[in-house]
Amino acid sequence: MSEDADALRARFLAELDRAETAEAVEAVRVAALGKSGAVTALLKSLGGLAPDERIRVAPVFQALRDALANAVEQKKGVLAAAALEARLAAERLDMSLPVPPEPLGSIHPISRVMDELAEIFADLGFAVAEGPEIEDDWHNFTALNIPPEHPARAMHDTFYIGGDGAGRVLRTHTSPVQIRTMTGGRPPIRIIAPGRVYRSDSDATHTPMFHQVEGLVIDRDTHMGQLRWTLETFVKAFFGVDDVVLRLRPSFFPFTEPSVEVDVGCSWEGGRLQIGGSGSWLEILGAGMVHPKVIANCGLDPAAWQGFAFGCGIDRLAMLKYGMTDLRAFFDADLRWLRHHGFGALDVPTLSGGIGA
Ligand code: PHE
Repeated sequence: MSEDADALRARFLAELDRAETAEAVEAVRVAALGKSGAVTALLKSLGGLAPDERIRVAPVFQALRDALANAVEQKKGVLAAAALEARLAAERLDMSLPVPPEPLGSIHPISRVMDELAEIFADLGFAVAEGPEIEDDWHNFTALNIPPEHPARAMHDTFYIGGDGAGRVLRTHTSPVQIRTMTGGRPPIRIIAPGRVYRSDSDATHTPMFHQVEGLVIDRDTHMGQLRWTLETFVKAFFGVDDVVLRLRPSFFPFTEPSVEVDVGCSWEGGRLQIGGSGSWLEILGAGMVHPKVIANCGLDPAAWQGFAFGCGIDRLAMLKYGMTDLRAFFDADLRWLRHHGFGALDVPTLSGGIGA
């Protein structure tokens, strides 16, 4: 009898070994341990044995039953794990985003230059101020000492809007932010105000919308020497050139007295304009000491407070720094142009980006 048990064990283990599906394993289990299975029959036969024989073989049969039951469970586990593996491999989903070979778009040179300006002037203690692009006549002109009918209004080709008598204009310069800053807070004041401005003018060097940055310092003992130092420090940092010479020429703005136009020394090397030296001069901005009338218009005492202001075209600065020749290209949204000038899609618009320091 125990010989039968050994033979059955060997046969069923071999069959289990060959079984490759859950169904095949189940068939082996039924053949061995099912109701009319071979091992079940063996166990049933114990009842017909003599007591001492039964005591001898019962443990052998029971061990055979347990061993086969274990082997069946184990084989089922192995097959289930393999089936899961196969299913995971077959149903695999790639959750990662496809990366396009070359992303499109980039930070615009004007935005880049504005960030650079904010960074440079922050180091000098200037905050960034803002004002609306739709201005009223008072902030854009009258408070800046340009009363109605004043001939200086003709210097700006103003876009008047509304026609409702409210006297609104698209701001023609960033100087109204001077007024808003002085009326909206207490001196001492140190701000720059970059932003869009509008004039009815359009050709190769003028666009109806362009960008300026205004600078304003109001304190008790401010003077032209500080203006000059501030502008020099700014130009050096912006262009990354130490050999910078500024030339201040007398000029006229209604809101500054005295007024100057500021030229930066430059040279032409291989047909390309280089900032530095004093071979040629390039006008870059207007500036001056804030007119006492402007200070008084803002409710401050001009005997106690004075200061300087400057206004500078940002588009021009960007062209000079990045070697661009046609202002209109700024508005063409042509990616090839951006790439040509080294503006990449993955450029991060950090404040210090582009600064040669
Ligand atoms: N607002 C003047 C312009 O647009 C520039 C300027 C600003 C001049 C501040 C002097 C002081 O031309």
